[in-house]
Amino acid sequence: MEEIRHLPVLLEEVLKVLDCRPGRVYADGTVGGGGHSREILERSSPTGRVIGLDWDEEALERARKNLSPFAGRFELRRANYKECKSVLESLSIPGVDGVLLDLGVSSEQLESRDRGFSFRWDAPLDMRMSQETMTTAQDLVRKLPAAELETLLREFGEERWARRIARNIVRRRQKAPLRTTRELVEVIERSVPPQRRGIHPATRTFQALRISVNEELNNLEAFLADAPELLNPGRRLCIISYHSLEDRIVKNHFREWARGEGRKNPPFALLTPKPVVPSAEEISRNPRARSAKMRAIEKL
Ligand SMILES: C[S@@+](CC[C@H](N)C(=O)[O-])C[C@H]1O[C@@H](n2cnc3c(N)ncnc32)[C@H](O)[C@@H]1O
Repeated sequence: MEEIRHLPVLLEEVLKVLDCRPGRVYADGTVGGGGHSREILERSSPTGRVIGLDWDEEALERARKNLSPFAGRFELRRANYKECKSVLESLSIPGVDGVLLDLGVSSEQLESRDRGFSFRWDAPLDMRMSQETMTTAQDLVRKLPAAELETLLREFGEERWARRIARNIVRRRQKAPLRTTRELVEVIERSVPPQRRGIHPATRTFQALRISVNEELNNLEAFLADAPELLNPGRRLCIISYHSLEDRIVKNHFREWARGEGRKNPPFALLTPKPVVPSAEEISRNPRARSAKMRAIEKL
């Protein structure tokens, strides 16, 4: 079996929530390299199944390899997870026994030297997770008016220096187009007062551009609109998010479902009144896990 370099985040906590058993069908909306899915298949042996979605072809290739020992028990589809309902319908699966979303970029995407997700090395300003997405980060920094850039950085990056960064991006692009991550980092570093400690000054701008390019919040909202119907009764939905904007959306939807608002179908029970976060040990093994928050809900 090919080694998975990065252990899936909050693995044991997710498996506990999903309660993997033979004969059950699970949907993994963000299958990535297949880390979580592989464990779900392992623990639901010999007959549990996984339907895995990802919109990144490279991720699906890795998942295909990693899950190959479970051939016949999984289906992989290149799709946006917001299409989960129609993917399941196309497979004639009316409901599933557990759904997982492990949101955001994978470590492989983040560490890829040519996709532009990281400010740590130079790459074209791309940031598309799916090869089918039309707009790149470069398009945004080249075309958006200063006021729209500022709003984007403030809303999606919670960046307090949004106005200065936006103005400096516009100033810089009047001289020459902004093409690479390094060029953008230079503009940000010139816009933000030096910080003694804490996160890299480009962190929030990169987060904002990535969220916008990939329409991350819209996808999550669209998925949550369908999600109550995807689950069989007594089964659970588990979502891991990596920034507060996503976590807030998940928290608010789950609370509404648990109160039975706006729907006649059976209510949901919140399994995580507070989000589950990784242990200090997990964070020291995998620093990317530090911002992870997992929330889960059960359809009654
Ligand atoms: C954090 S990784 C998942 C890692 C996976 N749980 C594992 O154990 O290997 C997130 C994955 O979700 C995918 N993704 C993000 N947004 C998506 C969307 N809207 N539709 C489909 N896949 C998405 C990314 O391409 C990435 O591969």
